Amino acid sequence: MNILRTKSVEQSIKDTEDGEHKLKRDLRAIDLLVFGIGMIIGTGIFVLTGIAAATKAGPAIVLSFVVSGITCAFAALCYAEFASAVPVAGSTYTFAYASLGEVVAWVIGWDLLLEVIVGASAVSVSWAKYFNTILHYMGIQLPASITGSQTIIAGLHINLLATFIALLLTVIVTIGIRESARFNLAVTSIKLAVVLFFIIFGIFFIKTANWIPFIPPSGPAPHPVNAGASAGFLDQPLIGLVLGQQSAFGFQGIITGAAVVFFAYIGFEIVSTTAEETRNPQRDMPIGILGSLFVCTVLYIAVSFVLTGMVSYKQLNTEAPMATAFTLVGQGWAAVFVSIGAVCGLTSVIMVQLLGASRVLFAMSRDHLLSVWFARTHPRFRTPYRINIIIGCLVAIIATITPIQELADLVNYGTLLAFVLVSIAVIVLRKTNPNLPRSFRVPWVPLVPILSALCCLYLMISLPIVTWIRFIVWLAIGFVVYFLYSMRHSRVSAQADASETVTTKTS
Ligand code: ALA
Repeated sequence: MNILRTKSVEQSIKDTEDGEHKLKRDLRAIDLLVFGIGMIIGTGIFVLTGIAAATKAGPAIVLSFVVSGITCAFAALCYAEFASAVPVAGSTYTFAYASLGEVVAWVIGWDLLLEVIVGASAVSVSWAKYFNTILHYMGIQLPASITGSQTIIAGLHINLLATFIALLLTVIVTIGIRESARFNLAVTSIKLAVVLFFIIFGIFFIKTANWIPFIPPSGPAPHPVNAGASAGFLDQPLIGLVLGQQSAFGFQGIITGAAVVFFAYIGFEIVSTTAEETRNPQRDMPIGILGSLFVCTVLYIAVSFVLTGMVSYKQLNTEAPMATAFTLVGQGWAAVFVSIGAVCGLTSVIMVQLLGASRVLFAMSRDHLLSVWFARTHPRFRTPYRINIIIGCLVAIIATITPIQELADLVNYGTLLAFVLVSIAVIVLRKTNPNLPRSFRVPWVPLVPILSALCCLYLMISLPIVTWIRFIVWLAIGFVVYFLYSMRHSRVSAQADASETVTTKTS
């Protein structure tokens, strides 16, 4: 068994023509841009910005966004090259299969699954909180026992609003990608309008004194409002342990802040999971990936400037900091308006994450690394409906019973790892497939991919120790599945004897 066997790019593209497992090519550049923005703007800007300012970086959270944005821009260049060269569902997973070998592809696929499932669950929980806030303003009071604010028995919470949104969106993505794109366009427009409203209206309430000191002196980190009970020692960033630094404020605070708000940028890479459903992936993928990242970076920097200018960063350790800022400057109506935008924003994030999760699982099962039963597309909707339903139910269960916020770091970790591997894969694929048509090429290879990997690694070591431990446990489970099932059933392995289109590396 050769666990470093690769699946040729040509074979990956050929597999997409396979009747039963074929997806509809229906998306245009504008759909991808909207998908990207729909996925990117969400919990990060609506929730984490304030918390990260209050507990990690102070007003310098603006710089955290710059650091995180630059890191993502490097990675986005690598994604754009890959997605334009290998326009196949499965994103990083497919890319890794083409360049780094099967076992690395498995790690990535497994990692992406964690990212999207935990991510969608976390955002569903945030959605439920904002939605409940709006209901509250409308005078509707749901019992605390069903909104996750009260323990039912033995530490168990039930959040039925989170269940509701996860299941509703599962139905939408199962019905079809085209419908999903239309739906996404509507909610993304509302979300963008609200973010712009926050920036433009918020400017009038800025007091420059709130920006002083812009970089508060280093010190111990206050406890974030959205985290569970403190795990103490395990809560500190890995780098703090190694270098003995304080984890909040000062220079390292800007970096730990960047590692937290990195969540806000996650999503541009999910655009590449729809490559196989794009009419002209070579041209449209780079537009979708780089364009959506650029728009969001500009908006985030503006929002964090305004937010920390409106009120003292110390007052932003709340679950709805943008609404809090308006409430504190006496504009309650604007707080409600922003909450409605947050609900719309979070809706599209969950949806695109569900879509991304199903595409990754789809690609893995089409390669027989997971049972092929999953990969059947629906005869009418042409979507991988079995996968959509299973993922949707899983997300609904996790979101219903878990106060998942503290796992947001885990999502960041998983995504950063995927970025590191994609950056390396760009360099490898340039060497192994130099003549592959690439309508988009990363400039200054290998410098840019290396910088990308190093920036991501720096953010990873700025994440808490407990996140590293959780991820290692998830990875261990993944290896068990791989060695017990996937390695033996791999389609590439089965084809290796019969077909010359499969290349094999020596392990
Ligand atoms: N970027 C997405 C968000 O902030 C994941 O919710």
